[in-house]
Amino acid sequence: MEIYNEEKFKRFMEENPFKFSEERIERAKKDFYEPRKGVMCDELVEFVLWANGYPARHEKFGDHLLPIIKRNEWKNVLEVGCGEVFLLSEYLFEKLEGKVKFTAMDKCGFARDSKDITLIDDEFTENYDISGYDLIIAQEPCEAAECIIKNCTENDKPFCVILCGAPHKRLTGEIDEDVNSWYIYLMKTYPQCGFGIWRNGRFHSGYIYSTEEFGL
Ligand SMILES: C[S@@+](CC[C@H](N)C(=O)[O-])C[C@H]1O[C@@H](n2cnc3c(N)ncnc32)[C@H](O)[C@@H]1O
Repeated sequence: MEIYNEEKFKRFMEENPFKFSEERIERAKKDFYEPRKGVMCDELVEFVLWANGYPARHEKFGDHLLPIIKRNEWKNVLEVGCGEVFLLSEYLFEKLEGKVKFTAMDKCGFARDSKDITLIDDEFTENYDISGYDLIIAQEPCEAAECIIKNCTENDKPFCVILCGAPHKRLTGEIDEDVNSWYIYLMKTYPQCGFGIWRNGRFHSGYIYSTEEFGL
């Protein structure tokens, strides 16, 4: 899989297919021209997937979720840690022809408004009221991951989360030294959940969910 093709990178920057803000464009450029060992920002991951003909992260996750949402006839979905452009909620809303209501939540605000998606600029917690939603989804929501797992597990709410490829703080405040230790901690603490490895192109990370129907 090709990564450092400058001509393609310049085209990606010009076309900006994922509506990156200036700040995100700068982040991608920094990682492209000054690569770090073993890590890559999400923006550069999107470039590598795009340049090699793989689906974007939100498209791959969205396509996995579509048949499950349809089969269960869920009508109200909350996406946590959606990022400033909430691409996953928007993708699902369009694919489901506007028949399902999507609420996208992020504690860092949004780069644009939406007439289709309800946006909540707030911090999700382990006690956040999720009673009005049929399903909670999240793509790499950093430290919100365990809040979602605990809240949904305690409230018997369907959920699935693609975890980050780096460890994030446990609810106890500790942080694991490496990502595998964090995944093992989550598996041991929430043994009733399913766990798998999510893959897209050369990238992979942990994936945790409430019931087998979300499995890979
Ligand atoms: C790595 S980004 C991923 C964004 C997007 N889901 C994506 O995959 O491109 C993680 C996002 O989670 C948000 N976040 C982290 N903890 C949160 C919390 N407790 N409540 C709401 N948003 C949170 C951050 O603000 C950030 O936008």
